[in-house]
Amino acid sequence: MDREMWSGGIGFIFASIGSAVGIGNIWRFPYIVGANGGGAFLIPYLISVFLFGLPLMMLELAVGRHLQTSVGPAFRAIGKRFYKAGIVIVAIVSLILSYYLVVTSWVLAYALFFAFQRPVDFTAFTGSYYPLLFFVLSGLIVYATVRSGVRKGLERISRIVIPLLVVILLFLVAFSLLQPGAAEGVAYYLAPDISRLSDPMIWAAAFGQAFFSLSVGMGILLTYGSYLGEANLFKNGVVIVVADILIAILAGFMIFPLVFAFGLDPAAGVNLAFVTLPSVFAGIQFGWVLGMLFFAMLFLAALTSAASMLEVPVATMIDSYGYSRHKATLLIFGIIFLLGLPSALSYTGLHLELFGTPLFDLSDYYFGTLGLIISGLIVSIVAGWFVDTEWLFEELGGSPRMQQAYLVLVRFCIPAVLFVTLISQVFGIAAV
Ligand code: PHE
Repeated sequence: MDREMWSGGIGFIFASIGSAVGIGNIWRFPYIVGANGGGAFLIPYLISVFLFGLPLMMLELAVGRHLQTSVGPAFRAIGKRFYKAGIVIVAIVSLILSYYLVVTSWVLAYALFFAFQRPVDFTAFTGSYYPLLFFVLSGLIVYATVRSGVRKGLERISRIVIPLLVVILLFLVAFSLLQPGAAEGVAYYLAPDISRLSDPMIWAAAFGQAFFSLSVGMGILLTYGSYLGEANLFKNGVVIVVADILIAILAGFMIFPLVFAFGLDPAAGVNLAFVTLPSVFAGIQFGWVLGMLFFAMLFLAALTSAASMLEVPVATMIDSYGYSRHKATLLIFGIIFLLGLPSALSYTGLHLELFGTPLFDLSDYYFGTLGLIISGLIVSIVAGWFVDTEWLFEELGGSPRMQQAYLVLVRFCIPAVLFVTLISQVFGIAAV
C-alpha cells in the first residue's frame, strides 16, 4: 500500500501549525508570561524556541522523512533495542491526549453555552455529569478527523481552522485594545522586569512552555515528516515556529487588556479562561458573541492539536501491524476514550481522586508535564545519538560547520536542558 502523503509543502505546514497552535498558545502562554516577569519572559522563551525547540523539531522531521514511517517502526529502524522506547513515546502521547481531550471538551461546552446564551458556573459545570456529554462529542470530532486520513482529515481541517482562528483572534485583539484601560493590561503583559532573568525558575518555565507549545519531542513531527516529500526542513520549521510564537503573543494582547479593563486578577492562572474571562463576557453587551468566539477559537486550536496526538498511535498501529486506518483509529480512540474517562469524571460526585488530588490534576502533572519532558528526552537521545549522521545531514542540508554545531545542540544541549527542566519540575521549583 502506498504511504499517504501531504498534498505538498503548504499542506504540511498547515497541519504542523495546527498541531503546534493549541490551548498552550491562547490560554497557557499569556498566564505564564504574566506570572514570570512579563516582557522579560520573552527573552528566555525565544531562546528556548529557536535554540532548542526548532533543532529538535528539525531532527524529528528529518528522521520521519528519511525513514518514511511512524514512531514505533522508526525507532526499530534506528536500532532494534529502541522499539520499546518508541512504544513508551506512543503511550505517553496517548495518555496526554486522554486528558487534553477533557480540556478540549470543556472548551467546546463553553462555546455552546455562550452560543445559546446560557452562562454556566465552572465549578457547577465540572461537578455535574454534563462534561461527559461534551467529552463524547469532542472525542468523536477528533476521531472523525484522524479517520479521514492525512490529506482529507488532518490537512484539510487545518487548512480551514488556522485561517479562521487567526481572523477570530485578530477581531478579539482589536476589541480588547479598544477597551478603556487597555494600556494598563499591555503594560502588565509586556513591561520587562529584567531582574527576573536571574531567576532559574523563569528559564525552566520558558523551556517547558516552548516544548509544549511547539508539540516537539512527542513523535508528532516525526510522524508528520513521514508524510512529507521534497521540502527544506529548516525553512519549513522556521515558518511553523514563527506562526506559533506570533499567535501566542497575540493571544496575550487579547487577554490582558480585557482583564485590566474589567479590574480582574491577571494572575488567576488556570481559572483565567474558564472563570475570569467568562465573567468579563457576562458583564458586557453582546458579551455572549465574544464568549462564543473566544471558546470556538480555543476549540478549533485544541481540535487540530488533539488530532495530531491521536495520529501518533494510529500511524504506529498502521505501520507496525498493517491495520487499516479505519480499524486502527477505532481501536486506539476507544482505548484513549476509556483512559480519559476518569479525568473527565474526576470533579463529579464520584470524586475520582488519589490521595486527595483529582485524577485530572494528576494526569496534567504526570503525563502533560513530566511525561512530555521524558518523551522529549527519549526522542532527542535516540534520534540524536543513534541515527546515521550521514543521512541526517543530507536531510538537513547546511554547511559542515553548521552541522557540527547542530550535533552539539541535539546531543548535549537539548537533553541537558530537558533534564534540568525535569528535575526542576520534580522538585517543584518551576512555575509550571
Ligand atoms: N502544542 C499544543 C498546544 O499548544 C499542545 C500539544 C502538546 C499538542 C503536545 C501536541 C503535543 O496546546
